[in-house]
Amino acid sequence: MMLLEVRALALLLYVAESLSAQGKETKLDDTLLFVGIISGRGYRHRRLAVRDAWATRCQVPGVSVCRFILADDEVTELVEEEMQEHQDIVLVHGETTYKSILLKTLFVFEYAVRHYDARFILKTDDDAFVHTRAMIQQLRLLCESPDCRRERLYMGKQCRRGDVIVTPGHRWNNEEYYNHTGLKTYANYMFGGGYILSADVAQALVHIQSKVSLKFTPIEDATIGFWVMGMDLRQIDHPKMNSNFWPCCFKALERRPGHKQVMGFQLDEETEADICSDDPWIILHKLDSPSKMRYVGARVAACRANATATAHVVPASIAPWVAKIGNPGASGVDAS
Ligand SMILES: *[C@@H]1O[C@H](CO)[C@@H](O)[C@H](O)[C@H]1NC(C)=O
Ligand SMILES: *[C@@H]1O[C@H](CO)[C@@H](O)[C@H](O)[C@H]1NC(C)=O
Repeated sequence: MMLLEVRALALLLYVAESLSAQGKETKLDDTLLFVGIISGRGYRHRRLAVRDAWATRCQVPGVSVCRFILADDEVTELVEEEMQEHQDIVLVHGETTYKSILLKTLFVFEYAVRHYDARFILKTDDDAFVHTRAMIQQLRLLCESPDCRRERLYMGKQCRRGDVIVTPGHRWNNEEYYNHTGLKTYANYMFGGGYILSADVAQALVHIQSKVSLKFTPIEDATIGFWVMGMDLRQIDHPKMNSNFWPCCFKALERRPGHKQVMGFQLDEETEADICSDDPWIILHKLDSPSKMRYVGARVAACRANATATAHVVPASIAPWVAKIGNPGASGVDAS
């Protein structure tokens, strides 16, 4: 607990430092979407697969930028080489523990709002596939303010009325939350595999953190829900932002009788039907191997022929929210 607060403070000092170094005149790079991918020291193989599958394609100036988030105590020689080579890793100051996921997440928001003029910020993990092209199209359709600057958006796969676990030793024990709030049920929150805050919300959190400190508790995604609970946000429970607790999207591997070698990957029926549609999954979480990650990336890349044809179709997944607001902001940010 103490340690966490010390870390939060260190982060704060670091941010204050970089702010004053930056100066007020710096013009920040415009981007519709900033993606922070939480990763760690031992996960180079995942990052390589994520780059191949989607993160390299995500680096489109003026539209989207993707960065992996590591802690500075995770920098080995190998990580340093990787940073030089790919220029897509940013470091948060602090020691690495299970709880540091929340610290890295807050850092995503801070980094995004200090370095980019971003409209939306996605927090995701290095075992998630993000369909950035479809996500960006949908975000444009969801904008209700000119230039997408005042969206009050919190979007993901929603956990409603989740139980606060106080069993000692349980993986998701959050007695700290219970002690702090007196609540046995979480405020509704978006599952951690991938969720989006609009920049106005991220800025508000960064501001609060700099003034009075946000309360840290051990469960990252539930804590974000708790942090924004008092804000009047558009909370969108997106049916195509998958955040699974089990390995995603594939049929069990089959072996030919008498052969050791497995046959090629096969997506499960639901994912297969969805993958090239004009309302695809925009997050697929818990891809449990780099080869599966690359497979999904290659499959999605191969359906790009449809991209322009469907750019102005409102996918059923977000139709209720687009219809309600009349979409005045959809043309506010230039197309790629
Ligand atoms: C919660 O409160 C109980 C009772 O005061 C205390 O024994 C316990 O250490 C607290 N747990 C945490 C994680 O703060
Ligand atoms: C194009 O979209 C249709 C309908 O959404 C889908 O069935 C088809 O597989 C797609 N084609 C390609 C090449 O992605």
